[in-house]
Amino acid sequence: MAAISSLGDLRGRRVLVRSDLNVPLDGALPFPGITDDGRIRAAVPTISALAAAGARVVVVAHLGRPKGAPDPAYSLAPVAERLSELLGAPVAFASDTVGPSASATVAGLVDGDVAVLENVRFNPGETSKDDAERGAFAAELASLADAFVSDGFGVVHRKQASVYDVALLLPHAMGSLVEAEISVLRRLTEAPERPYVVVLGGSKVSDKLAVIDNLLEKADTLVIGGGMVFTFLAAQGHGVGSSLLESDQIPVCAEYLKRAEASGVRILLPSDVVVAPAFAADSPATVVAAGAIPNDQMGLDIGPESAAAFGAAIREARTVFWNGPMGVFEFPAFAEGTRVVAQALTEVDGLSVVGGGDSAAAVRQLGFADSAFGHISTGGGASLEYLEGKTLPGIDVLKD
Ligand code: 3PG
Repeated sequence: MAAISSLGDLRGRRVLVRSDLNVPLDGALPFPGITDDGRIRAAVPTISALAAAGARVVVVAHLGRPKGAPDPAYSLAPVAERLSELLGAPVAFASDTVGPSASATVAGLVDGDVAVLENVRFNPGETSKDDAERGAFAAELASLADAFVSDGFGVVHRKQASVYDVALLLPHAMGSLVEAEISVLRRLTEAPERPYVVVLGGSKVSDKLAVIDNLLEKADTLVIGGGMVFTFLAAQGHGVGSSLLESDQIPVCAEYLKRAEASGVRILLPSDVVVAPAFAADSPATVVAAGAIPNDQMGLDIGPESAAAFGAAIREARTVFWNGPMGVFEFPAFAEGTRVVAQALTEVDGLSVVGGGDSAAAVRQLGFADSAFGHISTGGGASLEYLEGKTLPGIDVLKD
């Protein structure tokens, strides 16, 4: 995969950059606030390097999952404004993706200028499963530029027009964010320094089955928290009260527990749980043993004994990857497990990686500095798919 330097002299050339600017918004209309600008910050180095090289930079990105048509709730306008603040330079904004506004905006750029096109998912061609429809939209995007730089790591697992098809049509290179993310993921997958501990949380076990499956051969310890824990506890024969449960996945979890035992991989599940009668910030919290969750209560965080055990396992590791909160960290009464795990990651003598949008937002919301971790990935789904051993279309297409 070639770096930006392979594109040669960029002065005066129009460069289409795919960034991942999919940031959480507070929903206030017509001017939503950005609640975590980490992805915009991560996109800045490539955009400013291209501008400094004299390119006319055209940023293409998505926000949320609009249904292939314009929807003001998903406009990239507030994101373009924040990008301009971070770049310390004006950013032109096109109010469509490949229409008259995009053409006029790109035509108006001079060397070193930056423009952002409106949410690329406002066009149905972007996410179409039909190769021809995607290809036709990619051709329209490609007509706005002379070269393509892929820097939206968070979306490289999607075979979408602005991620995949456009690279087939233009001279292309990977941006410095994609380069950095891939090099960290390689360190995790090719001979990681041991002990190698993977911490998985989040609500749905079904989202994590493929990665657990793959890691059962690779990690030394799998630490499991979050809502997904209850399907594992059920697989061990425990009652889980009204906690989140994916009953259809109980047999799969039981099989993983058996496989882990056979292959000598340690699976660390919580020994205690913080429970409450309802999913609410002010629901009265109690700590119970993981095997004794009352029928009318739901688990909303790992308990203090588990958090201490998880923290100890993490601190002993030389390589740690973490994806998914340990509990409902958005509610202070159920944030302690996530906080203890995050703190332990900051104390790892080795490589600590926080994987993905939710976990990255969690550590920032809990007050940790980005610099406290070895690496904070901008891609949750993308990094998990890489660890699953899957081919990422947006990376694969860059290999010539
Ligand atoms: C993400 O938030 O994980 C990426 O931006 C990809 O978004 P998507 O899951 O909607 O494709």
